[in-house]
Amino acid sequence: MKDTAILLEHVSKSYRLSHQPYSSLKGILLSMFRYRRRIEVHQALNDVSLTIRHGETVGLIGVNGSGKSTLLAIIARVIRPNAGRIEVNGRVAPLLQLGVGFHPDLTGLENVYFNGIILGLTRQQIAERLPSIVRFAELEEFIDTPVRAYSSGMVLRLGFAVAVHTDPEIILMDEVLAVGDEAFQHKCLRKIQEFQHEGRTILLVSHDMNQVRQVATRTVWLHQGRVMADGAPEEVVTQYLAFTEEMERRAI
Ligand SMILES: Nc1ncnc2c1ncn2[C@@H]1O[C@H](COP(=O)(O)OP(=O)(O)O)[C@@H](O)[C@H]1O
Ligand SMILES: [Mg+2]
Repeated sequence: MKDTAILLEHVSKSYRLSHQPYSSLKGILLSMFRYRRRIEVHQALNDVSLTIRHGETVGLIGVNGSGKSTLLAIIARVIRPNAGRIEVNGRVAPLLQLGVGFHPDLTGLENVYFNGIILGLTRQQIAERLPSIVRFAELEEFIDTPVRAYSSGMVLRLGFAVAVHTDPEIILMDEVLAVGDEAFQHKCLRKIQEFQHEGRTILLVSHDMNQVRQVATRTVWLHQGRVMADGAPEEVVTQYLAFTEEMERRAI
């Protein structure tokens, strides 16, 4: 296997936002007299280059809107960049925004099959791992209930349980540890540590700086779609906290 798990070269992603704020009479009148609609291009990622090696646990931090979820979605190939090159070497288990990939009308069990197949397991493999998945998710009593009736914590547990049972080489986690209760968070952290010992690669988006300090071997700070710092968690977290404190001070 190659040494590099994830390679991003000059990756950029922009969204075209078409503003049509018909929130006031003035707005409506103005838009009627405008020749063209205002199109704004928003740069969610701006020339991001990163090399992540197998076995690294990278904490990805940054204020809301800095591009963290976009970066993970690009690595998971859920969205495509406008420019740049990506290389991903290894089986990816994406734990992206809560509930993505879950069908509310299907039961927990049906969703396990649905997600397992999407993540590359065979029906046979899912059947074998099912008891362990359900136990990990602590959903024994609710596995035949439609996911619509689940709390966000239950959806998270099921998503996490399926993902960790797919034998992934690369795990992407987008703020997933912020949702569950404390006991489940501990269980997830233990699982993450187990994965680290097995040499798997983890990319973790988190707003919990203690968690980042605790589990990451490297930290990348994104701001306005650019890499602001990349290095030892302690240093990058300290820089980031100084920056956010300064922002808050200025806002007062
Ligand atoms: N589908 C989309 N359409 C338009 N803008 C988007 C879309 N997804 C994200 N954005 C914008 O891109 C920027 C980065 O978003 P995101 O990657 O979700 O940031 P983060 O996860 O760090 O909060 C934000 O300004 C967000 O509003
Ligand atoms: Mg996000």
